[in-house]
Amino acid sequence: MDKFKAYRIFNENNKISGRVVTAERDELAAGEVVFKTAYSSVNYKDALAATGTGKIIRNYPLIGGIDAAGTVVSSSDSRYKAGDKIICTSYDMGVAHDGGYSEYCRVPADWVVPLPTDLSLFEAMALGTAGYTAALAIHLLEQNDMDPANGKVLVNGATGGVATLCIDMLARLGYQITAVTGKDGEHEFLKKIGATEVLSRKTLNMGSRPLEKALWAAAFDSVGGEQLAWLTRTMQPHGVIASFGNAGGIELKTTVLPFILRGVRLIGVDSGFTPMPLRRKVWGRLATDLKPRHLDEIAFTITMDDLPGYFEKMLKAGTRGRAVVRIS
Ligand SMILES: NC(=O)c1ccc[n+]([C@@H]2O[C@H](COP(=O)([O-])OP(=O)(O)OC[C@H]3O[C@@H](n4cnc5c(N)ncnc54)[C@H](OP(=O)(O)O)[C@@H]3O)[C@@H](O)[C@H]2O)c1
Repeated sequence: MDKFKAYRIFNENNKISGRVVTAERDELAAGEVVFKTAYSSVNYKDALAATGTGKIIRNYPLIGGIDAAGTVVSSSDSRYKAGDKIICTSYDMGVAHDGGYSEYCRVPADWVVPLPTDLSLFEAMALGTAGYTAALAIHLLEQNDMDPANGKVLVNGATGGVATLCIDMLARLGYQITAVTGKDGEHEFLKKIGATEVLSRKTLNMGSRPLEKALWAAAFDSVGGEQLAWLTRTMQPHGVIASFGNAGGIELKTTVLPFILRGVRLIGVDSGFTPMPLRRKVWGRLATDLKPRHLDEIAFTITMDDLPGYFEKMLKAGTRGRAVVRIS
Protein backbone atom coordinates (compact mmCIF):
# COMPACT_ATOMS: atom_id res chain seq x y z
CA MET A 1 0.00 0.00 0.00
CA ASP A 2 2.90 2.41 -0.41
CA LYS A 3 1.28 4.00 -3.45
CA PHE A 4 -2.41 3.97 -4.29
CA LYS A 5 -5.14 5.83 -6.17
CA ALA A 6 -7.09 8.71 -4.65
CA TYR A 7 -9.30 11.59 -5.80
CA ARG A 8 -7.62 14.71 -4.47
CA ILE A 9 -9.15 18.19 -4.50
CA PHE A 10 -6.91 21.20 -5.19
CA ASN A 11 -7.22 24.95 -4.88
CA GLU A 12 -5.08 26.26 -7.74
CA ASN A 13 -5.24 30.03 -8.24
CA ASN A 14 -8.59 30.09 -6.40
CA LYS A 15 -10.06 27.49 -8.75
CA ILE A 16 -11.27 24.36 -6.96
CA SER A 17 -11.12 21.07 -8.86
CA GLY A 18 -10.33 17.43 -8.25
CA ARG A 19 -8.51 14.64 -10.10
CA VAL A 20 -7.37 11.08 -9.59
CA VAL A 21 -3.76 11.03 -8.35
CA THR A 22 -1.24 8.56 -6.99
CA ALA A 23 -1.11 9.06 -3.22
CA GLU A 24 1.24 7.74 -0.58
CA ARG A 25 0.45 6.43 2.88
CA ASP A 26 2.65 8.99 4.65
CA GLU A 27 0.71 11.80 3.01
CA LEU A 28 -2.62 10.72 4.55
CA ALA A 29 -4.07 12.73 7.44
CA ALA A 30 -3.23 11.27 10.85
CA GLY A 31 -5.27 8.66 12.69
CA GLU A 32 -5.06 5.37 14.57
CA VAL A 33 -6.96 3.19 12.10
CA VAL A 34 -5.80 2.42 8.55
CA PHE A 35 -8.29 0.65 6.31
CA LYS A 36 -8.58 -0.52 2.71
CA THR A 37 -11.59 1.22 1.24
CA ALA A 38 -14.12 -0.95 -0.56
CA TYR A 39 -16.71 1.72 -1.37
CA SER A 40 -17.45 5.39 -0.85
CA SER A 41 -20.49 7.37 -2.03
CA VAL A 42 -21.58 10.75 -3.38
CA ASN A 43 -23.52 13.13 -1.17
CA TYR A 44 -24.60 16.69 -2.04
CA LYS A 45 -21.89 17.94 0.33
CA ASP A 46 -19.25 16.03 -1.70
CA ALA A 47 -20.42 17.81 -4.86
CA LEU A 48 -20.32 21.20 -3.12
CA ALA A 49 -16.85 20.47 -1.72
CA ALA A 50 -15.20 19.06 -4.85
CA THR A 51 -16.37 21.84 -7.15
CA GLY A 52 -15.90 24.73 -4.71
CA THR A 53 -19.62 25.56 -5.08
CA GLY A 54 -19.78 25.50 -1.29
CA LYS A 55 -16.96 26.44 1.05
CA ILE A 56 -16.75 22.98 2.61
CA ILE A 57 -13.06 22.05 2.55
CA ARG A 58 -10.95 23.75 5.18
CA ASN A 59 -7.46 22.82 3.95
CA TYR A 60 -6.16 22.04 0.46
CA PRO A 61 -5.15 19.78 -1.12
CA LEU A 62 -7.46 17.17 0.39
CA ILE A 63 -8.75 13.75 -0.64
CA GLY A 64 -12.53 14.08 -1.03
CA GLY A 65 -15.37 11.85 0.16
CA ILE A 66 -17.31 12.23 3.41
CA ASP A 67 -18.13 8.49 3.45
CA ALA A 68 -16.08 5.30 3.39
CA ALA A 69 -16.47 1.63 4.25
CA GLY A 70 -13.76 -0.99 4.18
CA THR A 71 -11.53 -3.46 6.02
CA VAL A 72 -9.00 -2.54 8.70
CA VAL A 73 -5.36 -3.07 7.70
CA SER A 74 -3.79 -1.89 10.97
CA SER A 75 -4.83 -0.12 14.14
CA SER A 76 -2.91 1.33 17.05
CA ASP A 77 -6.21 1.55 18.97
CA SER A 78 -7.15 -1.69 20.75
CA ARG A 79 -10.83 -1.39 19.76
CA TYR A 80 -9.98 -2.36 16.15
CA LYS A 81 -7.76 -5.00 14.53
CA ALA A 82 -6.76 -6.06 11.02
CA GLY A 83 -9.67 -7.69 9.19
CA ASP A 84 -12.47 -5.77 10.97
CA LYS A 85 -15.09 -4.37 8.61
CA ILE A 86 -15.92 -0.76 9.40
CA ILE A 87 -17.81 2.37 8.35
CA CYS A 88 -16.38 5.88 8.66
CA THR A 89 -18.56 8.87 7.81
CA SER A 90 -19.04 12.46 9.04
CA TYR A 91 -16.78 14.39 11.43
CA ASP A 92 -14.01 16.02 9.35
CA MET A 93 -13.94 13.32 6.62
CA GLY A 94 -13.53 15.03 3.24
CA VAL A 95 -13.68 18.44 4.97
CA ALA A 96 -10.46 18.85 6.96
CA HIS A 97 -9.24 15.22 6.94
CA ASP A 98 -8.51 13.05 3.87
CA GLY A 99 -11.74 11.29 2.93
CA GLY A 100 -13.10 8.15 1.34
CA TYR A 101 -12.21 8.61 -2.35
CA SER A 102 -8.99 6.74 -1.72
CA GLU A 103 -7.89 3.12 -1.86
CA TYR A 104 -6.61 3.54 1.73
CA CYS A 105 -7.90 5.78 4.53
CA ARG A 106 -6.34 6.68 7.88
CA VAL A 107 -8.80 7.97 10.47
CA PRO A 108 -9.16 8.60 14.22
CA ALA A 109 -10.54 5.49 15.95
CA ASP A 110 -13.24 7.64 17.57
CA TRP A 111 -14.86 8.18 14.13
CA VAL A 112 -15.20 4.48 13.35
CA VAL A 113 -18.44 2.48 13.46
CA PRO A 114 -18.15 -1.33 13.25
CA LEU A 115 -20.12 -2.64 10.25
CA PRO A 116 -23.41 -4.03 11.61
CA THR A 117 -23.68 -7.77 10.95
CA ASP A 118 -26.70 -7.44 8.68
CA LEU A 119 -25.11 -4.92 6.30
CA SER A 120 -22.56 -5.52 3.51
CA LEU A 121 -19.88 -2.92 2.78
CA PHE A 122 -21.76 -2.06 -0.44
CA GLU A 123 -25.05 -1.59 1.45
CA ALA A 124 -23.29 0.56 4.05
CA MET A 125 -22.23 2.98 1.32
CA ALA A 126 -25.52 2.77 -0.58
CA LEU A 127 -26.80 4.20 2.72
CA GLY A 128 -23.79 6.34 3.69
CA THR A 129 -24.35 9.81 5.11
CA ALA A 130 -27.62 10.05 3.16
CA GLY A 131 -29.11 6.92 4.73
CA TYR A 132 -27.75 7.82 8.12
CA THR A 133 -29.35 11.27 7.90
CA ALA A 134 -32.70 9.84 6.81
CA ALA A 135 -32.64 7.33 9.67
CA LEU A 136 -31.55 9.95 12.22
CA ALA A 137 -34.37 12.25 11.05
CA ILE A 138 -36.92 9.43 11.42
CA HIS A 139 -35.52 8.54 14.84
CA LEU A 140 -35.76 12.17 16.02
CA LEU A 141 -39.32 12.64 14.71
CA GLU A 142 -40.40 9.40 16.38
CA GLN A 143 -39.14 10.88 19.63
CA ASN A 144 -41.47 13.80 18.81
CA ASP A 145 -44.56 11.60 18.49
CA MET A 146 -44.50 10.89 14.73
CA ASP A 147 -46.75 7.89 14.16
CA PRO A 148 -48.36 6.30 11.07
CA ALA A 149 -51.79 6.84 12.66
CA ASN A 150 -51.37 10.64 12.70
CA GLY A 151 -51.74 11.20 8.94
CA LYS A 152 -49.71 11.81 5.78
CA VAL A 153 -45.96 12.31 5.78
CA LEU A 154 -44.37 14.56 3.14
CA VAL A 155 -40.87 13.94 1.71
CA ASN A 156 -39.44 16.89 -0.22
CA GLY A 157 -36.75 16.81 -2.93
CA ALA A 158 -37.97 13.26 -3.31
CA THR A 159 -35.56 11.80 -5.87
CA GLY A 160 -32.48 12.88 -3.86
CA GLY A 161 -30.23 10.49 -1.95
CA VAL A 162 -31.52 11.26 1.54
CA ALA A 163 -35.12 11.52 0.35
CA THR A 164 -35.30 8.25 -1.64
CA LEU A 165 -33.89 6.32 1.31
CA CYS A 166 -36.25 8.16 3.66
CA ILE A 167 -39.25 7.17 1.52
CA ASP A 168 -38.15 3.53 1.47
CA MET A 169 -37.65 3.47 5.27
CA LEU A 170 -40.95 5.24 6.04
CA ALA A 171 -42.87 2.88 3.74
CA ARG A 172 -41.37 -0.06 5.59
CA LEU A 173 -42.66 1.43 8.85
CA GLY A 174 -46.17 1.75 7.41
CA TYR A 175 -46.42 5.49 6.71
CA GLN A 176 -48.57 7.08 3.99
CA ILE A 177 -46.04 9.11 2.03
CA THR A 178 -46.52 12.12 -0.25
CA ALA A 179 -43.40 12.74 -2.34
CA VAL A 180 -42.71 16.19 -3.85
CA THR A 181 -40.32 16.25 -6.80
CA GLY A 182 -39.17 18.57 -9.57
CA LYS A 183 -38.71 15.59 -11.90
CA ASP A 184 -41.93 14.74 -13.72
CA GLY A 185 -40.44 11.59 -15.24
CA GLU A 186 -39.76 9.97 -11.86
CA HIS A 187 -43.27 9.62 -10.40
CA GLU A 188 -43.46 5.88 -11.10
CA PHE A 189 -40.02 5.30 -9.57
CA LEU A 190 -41.07 7.14 -6.41
CA LYS A 191 -44.22 5.03 -6.12
CA LYS A 192 -42.20 1.86 -6.65
CA ILE A 193 -39.93 2.64 -3.69
CA GLY A 194 -42.87 3.45 -1.40
CA ALA A 195 -44.54 6.81 -2.09
CA THR A 196 -48.33 6.69 -1.88
CA GLU A 197 -48.78 9.83 -3.99
CA VAL A 198 -46.42 12.13 -5.88
CA LEU A 199 -46.80 15.90 -6.35
CA SER A 200 -44.98 17.91 -8.98
CA ARG A 201 -43.13 20.88 -7.53
CA LYS A 202 -43.76 22.80 -10.75
CA THR A 203 -47.53 22.82 -10.28
CA LEU A 204 -47.65 23.07 -6.50
CA ASN A 205 -49.92 25.85 -5.24
CA MET A 206 -48.12 27.03 -2.13
CA GLY A 207 -50.51 29.86 -1.17
CA SER A 208 -49.24 32.79 0.87
CA ARG A 209 -51.29 32.90 4.07
CA PRO A 210 -49.44 32.38 7.38
CA LEU A 211 -51.59 29.26 7.91
CA GLU A 212 -52.85 27.24 4.94
CA LYS A 213 -54.97 24.08 4.93
CA ALA A 214 -53.42 21.60 7.39
CA LEU A 215 -52.18 18.62 5.38
CA TRP A 216 -49.15 16.86 6.86
CA ALA A 217 -48.57 15.04 10.15
CA ALA A 218 -44.81 15.01 9.51
CA ALA A 219 -42.40 16.27 6.86
CA PHE A 220 -38.80 15.59 5.80
CA ASP A 221 -37.13 18.48 3.99
CA SER A 222 -33.96 18.40 1.83
CA VAL A 223 -34.76 21.69 0.17
CA GLY A 224 -35.13 24.66 2.57
CA GLY A 225 -36.11 28.15 1.36
CA GLU A 226 -39.68 28.74 0.12
CA GLN A 227 -40.47 25.04 0.22
CA LEU A 228 -39.71 24.70 3.90
CA ALA A 229 -41.68 27.88 4.60
CA TRP A 230 -44.66 26.32 2.78
CA LEU A 231 -44.31 23.20 4.92
CA THR A 232 -44.48 25.22 8.14
CA ARG A 233 -47.75 26.77 6.87
CA THR A 234 -49.37 23.44 5.92
CA MET A 235 -48.60 21.20 8.89
CA GLN A 236 -51.40 19.63 10.90
CA PRO A 237 -51.72 20.62 14.56
CA HIS A 238 -48.72 19.14 16.44
CA GLY A 239 -47.06 18.21 13.16
CA VAL A 240 -43.29 17.64 13.13
CA ILE A 241 -40.80 18.72 10.46
CA ALA A 242 -37.24 17.43 10.04
CA SER A 243 -35.07 20.09 8.39
CA PHE A 244 -31.77 18.72 7.12
CA GLY A 245 -31.10 20.23 3.70
CA ASN A 246 -30.67 23.37 1.67
CA ALA A 247 -30.71 22.11 -1.94
CA GLY A 248 -33.19 24.93 -2.74
CA GLY A 249 -31.87 27.69 -0.46
CA ILE A 250 -30.81 28.59 3.05
CA GLU A 251 -33.46 31.17 3.91
CA LEU A 252 -36.55 30.46 5.95
CA LYS A 253 -39.26 33.13 5.86
CA THR A 254 -42.33 32.18 7.84
CA THR A 255 -44.24 33.47 10.86
CA VAL A 256 -44.54 32.19 14.40
CA LEU A 257 -48.21 31.27 13.85
CA PRO A 258 -47.62 27.61 12.88
CA PHE A 259 -45.60 27.21 16.06
CA ILE A 260 -47.89 29.01 18.52
CA LEU A 261 -51.31 28.21 17.02
CA ARG A 262 -50.73 24.68 15.71
CA GLY A 263 -47.86 23.56 17.95
CA VAL A 264 -45.77 22.68 14.91
CA ARG A 265 -42.28 21.47 15.81
CA LEU A 266 -39.29 22.14 13.56
CA ILE A 267 -36.51 19.65 14.32
CA GLY A 268 -32.97 20.25 13.06
CA VAL A 269 -30.96 17.24 11.92
CA ASP A 270 -27.15 17.27 11.84
CA SER A 271 -25.48 14.04 10.79
CA GLY A 272 -21.94 15.38 11.18
CA PHE A 273 -21.33 15.31 14.89
CA THR A 274 -23.99 13.03 16.40
CA PRO A 275 -22.63 11.58 19.68
CA MET A 276 -21.28 8.06 19.08
CA PRO A 277 -23.85 6.13 21.20
CA LEU A 278 -26.72 7.60 19.14
CA ARG A 279 -24.71 7.16 15.90
CA ARG A 280 -24.25 3.43 16.61
CA LYS A 281 -27.89 3.05 17.57
CA VAL A 282 -29.02 4.63 14.28
CA TRP A 283 -26.63 2.42 12.24
CA GLY A 284 -28.09 -0.54 14.13
CA ARG A 285 -31.56 0.50 12.98
CA LEU A 286 -30.30 0.94 9.40
CA ALA A 287 -29.35 -2.74 9.47
CA THR A 288 -32.66 -3.89 10.97
CA ASP A 289 -36.06 -2.18 11.20
CA LEU A 290 -35.11 0.77 8.95
CA LYS A 291 -33.16 -1.21 6.33
CA PRO A 292 -34.49 -0.02 2.95
CA ARG A 293 -36.18 -2.67 0.82
CA HIS A 294 -35.31 -1.11 -2.56
CA LEU A 295 -31.59 -0.43 -2.29
CA ASP A 296 -31.08 -2.23 -5.63
CA GLU A 297 -33.29 0.33 -7.36
CA ILE A 298 -32.00 3.35 -5.44
CA ALA A 299 -28.23 2.69 -5.55
CA PHE A 300 -25.87 2.17 -8.49
CA THR A 301 -22.09 2.04 -8.86
CA ILE A 302 -19.67 4.56 -10.38
CA THR A 303 -15.86 4.85 -10.30
CA MET A 304 -13.50 7.60 -9.16
CA ASP A 305 -13.06 8.64 -12.80
CA ASP A 306 -16.81 9.34 -13.03
CA LEU A 307 -16.80 11.75 -10.07
CA PRO A 308 -16.36 15.15 -11.79
CA GLY A 309 -19.26 14.59 -14.20
CA TYR A 310 -21.47 13.22 -11.45
CA PHE A 311 -20.81 16.22 -9.17
CA GLU A 312 -21.86 18.66 -11.90
CA LYS A 313 -25.03 16.71 -12.62
CA MET A 314 -25.93 16.53 -8.92
CA LEU A 315 -25.59 20.29 -8.43
CA LYS A 316 -28.10 20.80 -11.27
CA ALA A 317 -30.63 18.47 -9.57
CA GLY A 318 -30.07 16.01 -12.41
CA THR A 319 -29.39 12.86 -10.37
CA ARG A 320 -31.59 10.27 -8.71
CA GLY A 321 -30.90 8.05 -5.70
CA ARG A 322 -27.46 7.05 -4.51
CA ALA A 323 -24.16 6.78 -6.38
CA VAL A 324 -21.85 4.28 -4.68
CA VAL A 325 -18.19 4.76 -5.65
CA ARG A 326 -16.35 1.45 -6.16
CA ILE A 327 -12.88 2.05 -4.80
CA SER A 328 -11.18 -1.35 -4.65
N1 LIG B 1 -28.04 17.95 7.87
C1 LIG B 1 -27.27 16.95 7.51
O1 LIG B 1 -26.58 16.35 8.32
C2 LIG B 1 -27.28 16.52 6.07
C3 LIG B 1 -26.86 15.25 5.70
C4 LIG B 1 -26.99 14.86 4.36
C5 LIG B 1 -27.50 15.76 3.43
N2 LIG B 1 -27.84 17.00 3.83
C6 LIG B 1 -28.41 17.96 2.89
O2 LIG B 1 -29.63 17.43 2.39
C7 LIG B 1 -29.82 17.84 1.05
C8 LIG B 1 -29.98 16.61 0.17
O3 LIG B 1 -28.76 15.88 0.12
P1 LIG B 1 -28.60 14.66 -0.88
O4 LIG B 1 -27.26 14.09 -0.66
O5 LIG B 1 -29.82 13.81 -0.78
O6 LIG B 1 -28.61 15.46 -2.28
P2 LIG B 1 -29.28 15.07 -3.68
O7 LIG B 1 -29.21 13.61 -3.89
O8 LIG B 1 -28.66 15.98 -4.68
O9 LIG B 1 -30.81 15.47 -3.45
C9 LIG B 1 -31.29 16.79 -3.47
C10 LIG B 1 -32.67 16.80 -4.14
O10 LIG B 1 -33.28 18.04 -3.82
C11 LIG B 1 -34.08 18.45 -4.93
N3 LIG B 1 -33.58 19.77 -5.37
C12 LIG B 1 -32.38 20.08 -5.88
N4 LIG B 1 -32.29 21.38 -6.17
C13 LIG B 1 -33.46 21.91 -5.82
C14 LIG B 1 -34.01 23.21 -5.88
N5 LIG B 1 -33.30 24.24 -6.36
N6 LIG B 1 -35.24 23.39 -5.42
C15 LIG B 1 -35.95 22.37 -4.94
N7 LIG B 1 -35.49 21.09 -4.88
C16 LIG B 1 -34.26 20.88 -5.31
C17 LIG B 1 -33.88 17.42 -6.04
O11 LIG B 1 -34.94 16.45 -5.94
P3 LIG B 1 -36.24 16.48 -6.90
O12 LIG B 1 -35.73 16.79 -8.27
O13 LIG B 1 -36.85 15.13 -6.76
O14 LIG B 1 -37.11 17.56 -6.36
C18 LIG B 1 -32.58 16.76 -5.66
O15 LIG B 1 -32.48 15.46 -6.18
C19 LIG B 1 -28.63 18.72 0.69
O16 LIG B 1 -28.95 20.07 0.92
C20 LIG B 1 -27.56 18.25 1.67
O17 LIG B 1 -26.58 19.22 1.91
C21 LIG B 1 -27.74 17.40 5.12
